Amino acid sequence: MSKKAFIFDLDGVIVDTAKYHYKAWKKLANNLGFDFTETQNELLKGVSRVCSLEILLEIGNISLPEDEKARIMHNKNKHYLQYISKMGQDEILEGMQEVLLHLKENNIPFSLGSASKNARMILTQLDLIDLFDAIVDGNDVSKAKPDPEVFLIAAKKLNANPNDCVVIEDAIAGVEAANVAGMTSIGIGDKVALREADINLNSTSELTIDMIKELIKD
Ligand code: BG6
Ligand code: MG
Repeated sequence: MSKKAFIFDLDGVIVDTAKYHYKAWKKLANNLGFDFTETQNELLKGVSRVCSLEILLEIGNISLPEDEKARIMHNKNKHYLQYISKMGQDEILEGMQEVLLHLKENNIPFSLGSASKNARMILTQLDLIDLFDAIVDGNDVSKAKPDPEVFLIAAKKLNANPNDCVVIEDAIAGVEAANVAGMTSIGIGDKVALREADINLNSTSELTIDMIKELIKD
């Protein structure tokens, strides 16, 4: 497919933080008096913190003043960071470290393309940050996924044409963003939810070195 560069989402692609985001949002929902299911959580994956809260409040049919929203969002992050602080390299998703090392050893450029404002901290904690040629995260964008901004900035930083980039995503919003950017999208997870992806994989263990080789082959 002659692909020249790769862009990785973080949460649910490189590391198994998606479950912690879910736990933290669920606790917040429960505190507000309503339940929040894993199916509903699919809508929050890949979506910025602010947009996630809006979706959650809509599910609970709750409206809150801005200062209260800021307060509970801050609490959600505090709760989330408690999980993150205990996280080690064993929570890197299967095969991902090997994939990143393979790209590095073969001088194939890659970037992070994440909605998270905690991304740099998480990559540092996992000792992966130095592998990346570029990092684009929630602090660098003005428009959240499904807007393609995060991936277009990443492609620019890698000096790559969007059409030559492959995006690896676990979120509906992320796959949509990659497609709008004109990139090849690989969806990791539920094949029905991620049916818009160019390539579907059940889990990161299916993202093999052979597949990477095939994607970059002329
Ligand atoms: C995305 C996650 O990567 O980052 C979302 O999929 C999360 O669930 C978003 O809400 C923002 O993350 P953070 O760490 O800035 O709250
Ligand atoms: Mg994700």
